[in-house]
Amino acid sequence: MHLLDWNDVADSDWNVCIEQALLNGADRRRLENSHSGKNVGLVFFNDSLRTRVSMELASSSLGATPVTITPGSGTWGFAWDKSKPMLGPEAEHIQEAVGVLSRYVDLLGVRLFASGTNWDNDMQDTMLKQFAAASTVPVLNLESATRHPCQALADAAVLTRHFSGNTTRKKFVLSWAYHPKALPMAVPHSTLLMAARLGMDVTVARPEGFELDPDVMAKARDSAARNGGSVAESYDLPKSADGAHIVYAKAWGGHARYTDPSAEAEERHRHKDWRVTEGTMAATDKAKFMHCLPVRRGVVVDNEVLDGTDTLHLDQAEFRLHAQKAILNWMWDQAGQIQRPKLDFRP
Ligand code: CP
Repeated sequence: MHLLDWNDVADSDWNVCIEQALLNGADRRRLENSHSGKNVGLVFFNDSLRTRVSMELASSSLGATPVTITPGSGTWGFAWDKSKPMLGPEAEHIQEAVGVLSRYVDLLGVRLFASGTNWDNDMQDTMLKQFAAASTVPVLNLESATRHPCQALADAAVLTRHFSGNTTRKKFVLSWAYHPKALPMAVPHSTLLMAARLGMDVTVARPEGFELDPDVMAKARDSAARNGGSVAESYDLPKSADGAHIVYAKAWGGHARYTDPSAEAEERHRHKDWRVTEGTMAATDKAKFMHCLPVRRGVVVDNEVLDGTDTLHLDQAEFRLHAQKAILNWMWDQAGQIQRPKLDFRP
C-alpha cells in the first residue's frame, strides 16, 4: 500500500513504473484528470524545490488537489514520542496529525530527513515507518533518512531513455563529493540500488570513512548480480572514471558524524578537492554527468562540466514530474485493488 522503498516492490511493478514515466515524458497530457476528485497531502519536514513543485504539479495534472503542509510553520509542530508527557513546544502528536490528514486525503507524501544522531534509527527509517503506521491512506516517501524513491524512478527513466533501454553493463560511477555539510544518505543509497537494478556496472568512488550502509551495499550487489551487472568500490575517482558512461556525483556525510561530528567534519574537510572536473570527464567514455540537485557549483562539480552539453541533471529534474505521475497512478491502482467495506447503516 505504501511506497517507502523500491526494494519492497516487485521487479514487474518497478519496470511498469519506469515505462509509465517514459510514456508520461513523451506525452505530458497523458493521464490528465484521470484521478479528479482525489486529494493529496504533502508533508515537508525539510526544505525542497523539485519534490515540492513536481508533486504539486503531478497531483494537479492527474486532477487531484494537492495540499502542502510544513509542520510548525502555519500548522502545529508535531511531537513523536509517546513515552513522555507532551510538555515541549509541539502541540500535536504525529499519531493524531497523520490520523486527521488520512481522513482528508487519498494519499500522503512525506519528506523526513535523517536525524544524523542515531545511525540505527536512521538506517531503519524509524520515523518514516512511524508516520506510515499512523496513516490509513497510502504513504509515499518524498525522501527519508535512507531512501529517495521518487528521485530513483526519475533517474531510472532518464538512464533507460539515454541508453535506449540497454542499461546492462554500462559503466556507472557514483562519486562521493565534498560538501561543507554532512549530507544524508538517501540519494546515494537509492542511486546505487537503482543503477544495480538496471544491471549496470556500478563503482562507488569515495574516500575512506565515507562508506554507504553495508546492508544497502549487500542489497545492491545481489540486485546487480541478478540483473547482469556488478558493484565495486574505489578510493580513486580519476581511475574509476576511466571508460565510464555515467558520472553521478553526490555528497554524503561519514558514519563518524553519528558519534563524533567534529572528527567527521575534520575528515571531510581533508577531501575538499574531491569534485567532478573537466579532467574527470575527459577520462570517461563520453560520459554524461548526473546530479539530483540542488548542487553546489565549484564544490561538487565545476562550472565547465555543469554548463557543458554532457549533462543529464535538468532531464533528471524534469523526469521527477513524469515519474511521480506514474507513481501516484500506480499507488492508486494498487489501493483500488484493496477491498473496502460497503456502507450499510441497517441495524
Ligand atoms: N532532488 C530533490 O529531491 O530536490 P529537492 O530537495 O529540491 O526536492
